[in-house]
Amino acid sequence: MAVQGNKGKTAFFCTNCGNEFSKWMGRCPSCGQWNTLQEQTVVTGKPAKNASSEHLRPLSESKPMHLHEIGSAQERRISLSNGEVDRLLGGGLVEGSLVLLGGEPGIGKSTLSIQIPLGCPSLKTLYVSGEESPRQVKMRADRIGGDNSNVYIYSETRMEAILKEAEAMRPDLVIVDSVQTMFSEAIDSSAGSVSQIKETASMLLHFAKYTGIPVILIGHITKDGYIAGPKLLEHIVDVVLQFEGDDRGSYRLLRSIKNRFGSTSELAVFEMTSGGLREVTNPSEMLMPMHEQGLSGTAIAAMLDGLRPFLFEVQALVSSAAYGTAQRSSTGFDVRRLNMLLAVLEKRAGFKLTMKDVFLNMAGGLKVTDPACDLAVVSAVLSSNFDYALPSDVCFAGEVGLSGEIRPVGQVERRITEALRLGFRKVYISKYASFDKSVLAGGDMQVVKVGDIPSLVKALFRS
Ligand code: TYD
Ligand code: MG
Repeated sequence: MAVQGNKGKTAFFCTNCGNEFSKWMGRCPSCGQWNTLQEQTVVTGKPAKNASSEHLRPLSESKPMHLHEIGSAQERRISLSNGEVDRLLGGGLVEGSLVLLGGEPGIGKSTLSIQIPLGCPSLKTLYVSGEESPRQVKMRADRIGGDNSNVYIYSETRMEAILKEAEAMRPDLVIVDSVQTMFSEAIDSSAGSVSQIKETASMLLHFAKYTGIPVILIGHITKDGYIAGPKLLEHIVDVVLQFEGDDRGSYRLLRSIKNRFGSTSELAVFEMTSGGLREVTNPSEMLMPMHEQGLSGTAIAAMLDGLRPFLFEVQALVSSAAYGTAQRSSTGFDVRRLNMLLAVLEKRAGFKLTMKDVFLNMAGGLKVTDPACDLAVVSAVLSSNFDYALPSDVCFAGEVGLSGEIRPVGQVERRITEALRLGFRKVYISKYASFDKSVLAGGDMQVVKVGDIPSLVKALFRS
């Protein structure tokens, strides 16, 4: 039933994509997820309270303007004194912007967001915590260190109270941890529900736009981005930063998924230490081999993530299957793609891998999607299969096609420059790749072009 007497209208919201439907369905027609529709009240009959910061005065009255009248001055940006976060935002936090910081629980969202004001004492910051008590926040802040003279902690979950306080205090930055714990009294559903999350975000957006105070909003997501939150907020907020990383490793990748004021191909790397998150400015260095001599089954891939080149170790282990069926397992690399590459090796180069277990691992808990890693994966598998170590100063950048051809990949120059910087001497790329030879100037780097798997095998193992 869509309407419930005087309790107000209800509708069904998809907790994955946030779309609204008038009736329940097993599968969301919009995003295709199963069992994600939840019934929620949309209007409560007390709209007077639902005045998203009605009392706020806009900075300037807005009227339609002729395009040429609009000044082309840059937005004002606030530096957060955190080089990596500033770079990710496109050069600092834009005034009046709403930034969503998403990630799985425990990945370091609260750590990063308290670390920012502690490192930036010139910014008067209001840190609203709906998850932790002020004492807990204090303990964390003490662990991180820094200057806490301009940070205000407010333990509250009612949006109306938060906005009132923020309006009176006029800080330089507001941080809200997290969107799932906040609620507006105007909406008749519990905190964390789709309608509360949407309302919280739009109240904060309204606040940010009308006061010019930037807001960082934290949101939890599960591994598959499933719980209501960040996914359905993406179109409301200005910037979406997402934390990734595996909970076993200490490295965290912060990625910009959406940015109305900058590029989305940026990526920052942090290391979780006992004193908070440390910026890693040279990510390749942490992903490099931890052993002096070459070991069989490892190969270095020259990958790009966004625009950022990374060199990292691909590890493979090929062994005879202990049970009837061979196992294929992969961490950080799509297992279907691994199976495809193994099939190509079998069909196009005659390697009998059907009865072999194959395990694949990407160093540092990295999740890899760049097809340029194919060549390193294939080389690591072959190296393990032959039990022959590849020289430690070679790296790979090429995609492997279904007919066993090595295909060119984009931005070869960036990959070569990074490889040169890290002291590599040889890079294997596609025979069909073309690149600007000037990147090789002054460096001692040999570029080996291979056209297919058999010629790769010949170049690596039979020379
Ligand atoms: P947290 O920032 O609370 O994660 P989130 O807000 O995303 O849920 O903390 C992440 C983890 O990091 C937590 O398990 C404890 C650990 N941690 C450190 O290792 N060092 C530190 O200095 C801090 C503050 C946390
Ligand atoms: Mg937290």
